[in-house]
Amino acid sequence: MAPNIRERTYIMVKPDGVDRGLVGDIIARFERRGFKLIAAKLASPGKEHLEKHYADLMGKPFFPGMIQYMLSGPVFAMVWEGLDAVKTGRVMLGATNPLESGPGTIRGDYALAVGRNICHGSDSVENAEKEIALWFPEGVLQYTRSQESKVF
Ligand code: TYD
Repeated sequence: MAPNIRERTYIMVKPDGVDRGLVGDIIARFERRGFKLIAAKLASPGKEHLEKHYADLMGKPFFPGMIQYMLSGPVFAMVWEGLDAVKTGRVMLGATNPLESGPGTIRGDYALAVGRNICHGSDSVENAEKEIALWFPEGVLQYTRSQESKVF
């Protein structure tokens, strides 16, 4: 199968990342890697919206605390597009538990606690599509960058 240079992933800086001023750094990492930003906004989602986003985790013991943390301040929601965006995005984020994240990853560089792990990234192409539809019902931009056609 031909590589999909238009794969999309949903990446979100969580309230602790916004509060600590890490939005610019996280954008820069994805830009420098070569991904294309096709949607971005600062948002203050309500409880219902967050429960939809994290529906798979409902019932986990950490769920109520995690929702409270996600309600503690704005998040920065983004859609990034490019080759292998979902898997590579997860590699760039690091492991769910920052203590298991290698240096050079976002969580490995900036976090210690699983409950304050700075960022979210879709874990499959299917979930990315669902998350993009949930966070950007208004849609995303489509445009071509000058270097794209030369690289792939
Ligand atoms: P999960 O979807 O398992 O991880 P990831 O964000 O890497 O896809 O969990 C969602 C979030 O739930 C996770 O980023 C932080 C929080 N969480 C906890 O607070 N405690 C935990 O024990 C786990 C597994 C997750």
